[in-house]
Amino acid sequence: MLARCVVDESLPGRTLRALQDERPLFHGADHDRVNWQLGDAVLARLAQRVEPGWRTLETGCGYSTVVLAACGATHTVVSPETAEHERIVAWCADHGVGTDRVRFVADRSQRVLPGFDLGPLDLVLIDGDHAFPIPFLDWYFTAEALVVGGTLVVDDVQIRTIGVLRDFLRAERDRWRLVADVGTTAVFEKLTSPVTDPSWWRHQPWASPDRGRRSVPWGVRRLVHRRLGRLRRLGRLRRR
Ligand SMILES: C[S@@+](CC[C@H](N)C(=O)[O-])C[C@H]1O[C@@H](n2cnc3c(N)ncnc32)[C@H](O)[C@@H]1O
Repeated sequence: MLARCVVDESLPGRTLRALQDERPLFHGADHDRVNWQLGDAVLARLAQRVEPGWRTLETGCGYSTVVLAACGATHTVVSPETAEHERIVAWCADHGVGTDRVRFVADRSQRVLPGFDLGPLDLVLIDGDHAFPIPFLDWYFTAEALVVGGTLVVDDVQIRTIGVLRDFLRAERDRWRLVADVGTTAVFEKLTSPVTDPSWWRHQPWASPDRGRRSVPWGVRRLVHRRLGRLRRLGRLRRR
């Protein structure tokens, strides 16, 4: 049984209440429809914080699509099932939620996102295919499009793949800030740009053997590594 969240009288708030009252089944095949929605608390957070004109993107679709449409976001959905898109659009039409600003890209994210012109994004929600390595690809191919200060929402951290993604981002303290764990959803803020150029795996706090030691900022570690490399090279030259 899903607990209801308190919502206000704005369009996103009323829309979320209608979703909670009706629990429409957007997902799955026509003969076997299911509800794989984001948690109500995360939906309420989106309904309260996303403003009209925000540029947003999600992998997967469902209640989150409805709420982001009700918020007035300029929203891109990357998700393969056209039947799900049609159910969402129909439900929105019945409930006075415009979908003019929602672009449905009917394909798998791992095929679409590489090379896709995403433009700057204020919010990215990763909630498509949860199998390894798809959530990592979703993150990798959207991370640079997200603006500094933008929001990254990663759902289902209880699943091992997404849990690793959350742990990786949490370790990248100079680049991402864990804003909140809302149930099984992690919300991050992007702190800097670029965020996908580790240059060397040892510089990634999550991958480094120094992991667990007191965290030294990434920039300092890179500087020390470069200086040590230069000293070693100089030493070799002198011995020749
Ligand atoms: C957990 S549901 C998304 C729930 C949604 N965020 C909500 O609040 O209702 C997962 C979605 O991912 C879609 N999906 C499955 N494989 C995908 C892929 N390779 N790329 C993008 N989306 C995918 C499914 O069709 C489904 O719509």
